Amino acid sequence: MKKNDKRPIGVFDSGVGGLTVARSIVKHLPNEDVVYFGDTARVPYGNKSKATIIRFSLEILRFLKRHDVKMVVVACNTASSFSLPAIKKACSIPVTGVIGPGVREAVGLTRSGRIGVIGTTSTIQSCSYGRELARHGAKYRLFAQGCPLFVPLVENGFIDDPITYEIAGRYLKDMRAVGIDTLILGCTHYPLLKGVISDVIGHYVNLVDSSFAVAREVKGLLDKHGLGAGKRQRRGKIKCFVSDDTAGFRRLAGVMLGSSIHVRKAAI
Ligand code: DGL
Repeated sequence: MKKNDKRPIGVFDSGVGGLTVARSIVKHLPNEDVVYFGDTARVPYGNKSKATIIRFSLEILRFLKRHDVKMVVVACNTASSFSLPAIKKACSIPVTGVIGPGVREAVGLTRSGRIGVIGTTSTIQSCSYGRELARHGAKYRLFAQGCPLFVPLVENGFIDDPITYEIAGRYLKDMRAVGIDTLILGCTHYPLLKGVISDVIGHYVNLVDSSFAVAREVKGLLDKHGLGAGKRQRRGKIKCFVSDDTAGFRRLAGVMLGSSIHVRKAAI
């Protein structure tokens, strides 16, 4: 077992949203470096087939391996829904997605056992959240709703806009009627819409932003496998790569991580 392993943690997403997870990791684990890959040339994943999402994920895994990462975090809910078994099979380092940690957090918060999840069309159709919740016992009920317009709204900067309220009102109407007390934000972009979602669903509903739960999961896995970076002179950094260097990515990355973020285009 290696001590004080200074290799970076590999994090990937279909685009910019997974930076919420990368940000949470460096906040909770300030000695760790992160190599982030955002597949901006091929985003969105949320409307693609399982086979395509698995192929993209394995290509990104090869890229992260070239950066000698010590573990992999699949920060995309859609990729986590379809690619985790293939990724785990293709590498010998620890791997985590966002679904298990998000569900554990929701189970810890709910009082009524009535939990909602919102995500991309592919994530909801995959039933990945339902399968994960079933592992926690029969006393929980899951209400799922695809919200495909939320990603383009975020990407286009409609964060706190009447049109976003209107669309959230329609998507969340049934969810309000069934009386959930906890709602999992099952897509990397949705934490940016927390304010709108909370206003629409009701402020008494717990919103689960999986990025915090994932950071805790990463710490647990690093500890378990003896892979923590240990002490270092400087704070951990995020190296950010994209498959297409877009203005939209840079703008949102700046909003999430501050203007000092350095973004590089990389071929995978
Ligand atoms: N990153 C994706 C997810 O969390 C959302 C964006 C997309 O559709 O690619 O599901």
